[in-house]
Amino acid sequence: MDYLHIVLRIVHIGAGVFWVGGVLMTVVFIAPTVGALGDAGPKFMAHLVKNLKFTTRMSIAAGLTALAGAWLYWIDSGGFQSAWMMSSVGTGFGIGSFFGAVGFVFGILIGRTTNALMKLGEQMQGKPSPEQLTRFQTLQKKQAFYSRTTAISLIISVVFMAMARFFVL
Ligand code: HEM
Repeated sequence: MDYLHIVLRIVHIGAGVFWVGGVLMTVVFIAPTVGALGDAGPKFMAHLVKNLKFTTRMSIAAGLTALAGAWLYWIDSGGFQSAWMMSSVGTGFGIGSFFGAVGFVFGILIGRTTNALMKLGEQMQGKPSPEQLTRFQTLQKKQAFYSRTTAISLIISVVFMAMARFFVL
């Protein structure tokens, strides 16, 4: 039994499900709800981020998925050297990994923008100044772009992860 491979797959797929599920849940349900809540929106976000450590937990899941995935890729390709990388199966996992990595990078940007939004929200006591409002709207636009890009990249990654093993020509 190849215990290492089994453990890596459990970590990779388990953390991946948590990560991708969390991202899609945020884009499809949580973000529109926060937008619709008005003044209660930032409070909801503060509870999610500060008390429930949402961004920290998502970052851990994303890191574990990428780390275990990179390790599996390293094993499968015999240390990034074998013909496996150029095979159709290897190419399929390679494309999936690439989009997973894009999702990971944009996920980091989401975390940064969320922190900036939280800080700004704390500074905005009462009626926000025009500068604060402009900065808030700019950050929200960035956040929406990063979130959509992450979600689309991760969907492509999952599709290739699901198909790659069957790319046998
Ligand atoms: C972040 C970059 C990623 C890398 C580098 C990566 C890499 C890999 C590799 C090399 C394999 C083959 C494992 C084996 O030999 O058994 C694999 C399988 C798999 N990956 Fe990823 N992956 C990434 C992202 C994801 C994401 C985001 C998901 C979503 C849940 C995911 C889900 C899966 C699944 C379900 C399999 C099993 C496929 C099968 O056995 O046919 N991966 N991944």
